[in-house]
Amino acid sequence: MYCANIKVKDAQQGKQPSYLSYFSPHPSSYGTVVVPTGPIPTHPMAVKNEIFIVICVIVGTIVIIGGNAELQRFDHPAKADGSLSILVVGDWGRKGKYNQSQVASQMGITGEKMDLDFIISTGDNFYPSGLTGEHDTAFEESFTKIYTAPSLQRLWYSVLGNHDYRGDALAQLSPILKQRDGKWFCLKSYILSTDIAEFFFIDTTPFQDKYFTDPGDKVYDWRGVLPREKYLTTILRDLESALGESHAKWKIVVGHHTIRSGGIHGDTQELVKRLLPILKASNVDMYINGHDHCLEHISSGDSPLQFFTSGGGSKAWRGNYSWSSNEKDQMKFYYDGQGFMTMRITQNEVGIDFYDIVGNILHKWSASKSLFSII
Ligand SMILES: *[C@@H]1O[C@H](CO)[C@@H](O)[C@H](O)[C@H]1NC(C)=O
Ligand SMILES: *[C@@H]1O[C@H](CO)[C@@H](O)[C@H](O)[C@H]1NC(C)=O
Repeated sequence: MYCANIKVKDAQQGKQPSYLSYFSPHPSSYGTVVVPTGPIPTHPMAVKNEIFIVICVIVGTIVIIGGNAELQRFDHPAKADGSLSILVVGDWGRKGKYNQSQVASQMGITGEKMDLDFIISTGDNFYPSGLTGEHDTAFEESFTKIYTAPSLQRLWYSVLGNHDYRGDALAQLSPILKQRDGKWFCLKSYILSTDIAEFFFIDTTPFQDKYFTDPGDKVYDWRGVLPREKYLTTILRDLESALGESHAKWKIVVGHHTIRSGGIHGDTQELVKRLLPILKASNVDMYINGHDHCLEHISSGDSPLQFFTSGGGSKAWRGNYSWSSNEKDQMKFYYDGQGFMTMRITQNEVGIDFYDIVGNILHKWSASKSLFSII
């Protein structure tokens, strides 16, 4: 089943295949392998068959290893002074409309002052239905031509949202997009290690039951996700073990969907049930999401966990808000309009600011940990 996603480069008749590039929807198998190939058989069909067998062996091995493998890990070192500056935006790709361009230009100004290391996108990258394929020009119209400020030409570590799954979900993960705009980085679930913090990016869309049980007229691209339960348990198991092994001072989990929220979508019950207990047991510091088109901060009442929503990248002002004062978790801040969130992280401190589209800081939060604490 994974063989369907393989692209063979330079394998035309009569030309020595210099390398085989594979691309699989499985979260643990992504990259480029260099495969030394033998003498070219004379019959073109034989070339094809041989390549196909080699690929299947390689991919088969990867899939088998992938069965027990950890989430794929990437490194992004902190600045020389040991700090990190990050901007977080979500729910944005609307070809500049609904204030997307205004948010982008304020991101550029704030990003310049902060000397950003990278940007996090919490998903729903392209509206209304993701990308149609690797060559969809919405990629330029909603991304490259919108986030033009020099300060934003950093890597954008992204996850997929539910709207992205309504298009060609694999297109956003394709290396071809990276060729079209080098700052783009998107996978389903992965770990980003910096020296001081570890970010665990989680593919949350497949957790929500209603996309499967009651999709209405929406069609979701579940390639690489089915069988669903195996996919979900693998993510949770890999996340739990990666969190357990992490020595990072700050542990931050990023997903598209809310866990707790006072916005129109409210809590995502499936994540409250299955993801939240892992985050609490593993001393995760923050869960960052989009999905509700607002800016929001909720403090857990029975753990150090903080919930941050940064989903104000374009269309907002939904007008629906509900949160009971009897909740054990505390609503610290809710803004129904557009904007974004910034983070500054050092060994001992993390500082969060929420910005609106004209650069006002609407809410601030910070926390510190002593130099020697291990959690
Ligand atoms: C754009 O932002 C301004 C300022 O916050 C707001 O008044 C206006 O309603 C927004 N427009 C849209 C379409 O959201
Ligand atoms: C959102 O607000 C509108 C207008 O007040 C209301 O009709 C609708 O039922 C609300 N939706 C939810 C899910 O709360």
